Amino acid sequence: MPNKVKFNKEFPVIKKSEKLFNRSNGLIPANTQTLAKGPTQWINGIAPKYLKSGKGSHVWDVDGNEYIDYNMGIGPLVLGYCYEKVDKAIIKQLKRGITFSLVHPLEVELSEKIREVVPNAENVRFSKTGCDVTTAAVRVARAFTKREKVLCCGYHGWHDWYISVTDRNAGIPKAIQKLTYTFNYNDIENLIQSIDKDTACVILEPFVFEESKPDYLKQVKEVCNKNGTLLIFDEMWTGFRIALGGAQEYFGVTPDLACFSKAIANGMPISVITGRKDVMQLFDKDVFFFTTFGGEALSLAASLATIKEIQKNDVPKYLNKQGKKLKDGYNKIVQELGIDFTKCTGYNCRTIITFDASAGNPLEIKSLLQQEMIKRGILWGGFHNMCYSHSNKDINYTLKAYKDALPIVKKAVEEKDVKKYLKGIPVEPVFRKTSNFNLKPAKKKK
Ligand SMILES: Cc1ncc(COP(=O)(O)O)c(C=O)c1O
Repeated sequence: MPNKVKFNKEFPVIKKSEKLFNRSNGLIPANTQTLAKGPTQWINGIAPKYLKSGKGSHVWDVDGNEYIDYNMGIGPLVLGYCYEKVDKAIIKQLKRGITFSLVHPLEVELSEKIREVVPNAENVRFSKTGCDVTTAAVRVARAFTKREKVLCCGYHGWHDWYISVTDRNAGIPKAIQKLTYTFNYNDIENLIQSIDKDTACVILEPFVFEESKPDYLKQVKEVCNKNGTLLIFDEMWTGFRIALGGAQEYFGVTPDLACFSKAIANGMPISVITGRKDVMQLFDKDVFFFTTFGGEALSLAASLATIKEIQKNDVPKYLNKQGKKLKDGYNKIVQELGIDFTKCTGYNCRTIITFDASAGNPLEIKSLLQQEMIKRGILWGGFHNMCYSHSNKDINYTLKAYKDALPIVKKAVEEKDVKKYLKGIPVEPVFRKTSNFNLKPAKKKK
């Protein structure tokens, strides 16, 4: 009998997952196309490796085990799996065609909808992946300002201009690495120190998990304006989640350009760049940004249906409400247990659970909690990526599971032997590094 979302006695049987994994070994480098979905982020030997279906907030692995999912496809599933209204829109379009030889009317319709809801969207262009549009934003900013340097804060995808500054930069020419630096979030002095007359753009995630200091983003905008540098918000995670119009609506700060993907189409592959008309007009001719599948109609239809649904139901409000219950509930449980080495933080629509190194190896502790949550039918990667289908029943059950699993973690930490409790190989660090690396050397004081 496959495991269900309940307090199972055994760990799920994952035989079919392991078989598929063995077939992919030596065939698919890294075994995955998306690092966060891959085997390094899940306790090896316990967690399932392959999912085959989903409905609402629940997923089923290839062995038939059922889980509540808190990763939601690493962000896109803002409404939930197989969400009827979006699926209907996709099926309707599928019957008419996927990709055409001329421009499709949905490109106009969806652009108008985005202009209606995203504050900075004077102009709109589409592409397929998040890094398509972050790269397009950087290129158009360079063309507009006639400058070359980039300052960034957050994760912005696999393209050269960004990955060159990380430790996974093999294959990228040295010349490229000299053009990008990072700056530290919530530290306006650090940005002021780093910006100079050759800085074309400042690109940042408006927030990741750390709360934005009051007026920080406003100050970032002022620093950029003063320096003639364009401000780009990377709204992959904030867009259509913290507010319908993204972080720019939520904080009341309008960037020159903004990049969206993930939640905009409930799982279909589409990304969007929005921005100031005088900048975006360079895409007419000067800045080359065209791709075969840019106007693929199933994703356009899905996106239009998704945005309408988010707007109609005030989905950001719901994500905030359900996410808060989980965050507060988790923190209450750890307080009652008297364990201060773990906490849940972040904006309610997307929170993270962390473990202090003072309690032991954080990756081992995370693996133990993950193992125990998986046993109880929860696909838990250390985050609560909320969706519109996470019901009260899901939340209440999840909090019960934390209540049951955290005492095991407490005991293991107190015994200083977390490893003893692990039934599989622990998870590896998350690659996503967002601050304190490749900072620009401080300016010399005059
Ligand atoms: C903030 C942010 N920007 C850019 C990207 C890159 O998007 P993609 O993986 O679709 O290229 C991601 C992906 O996770 C992201 O989280």
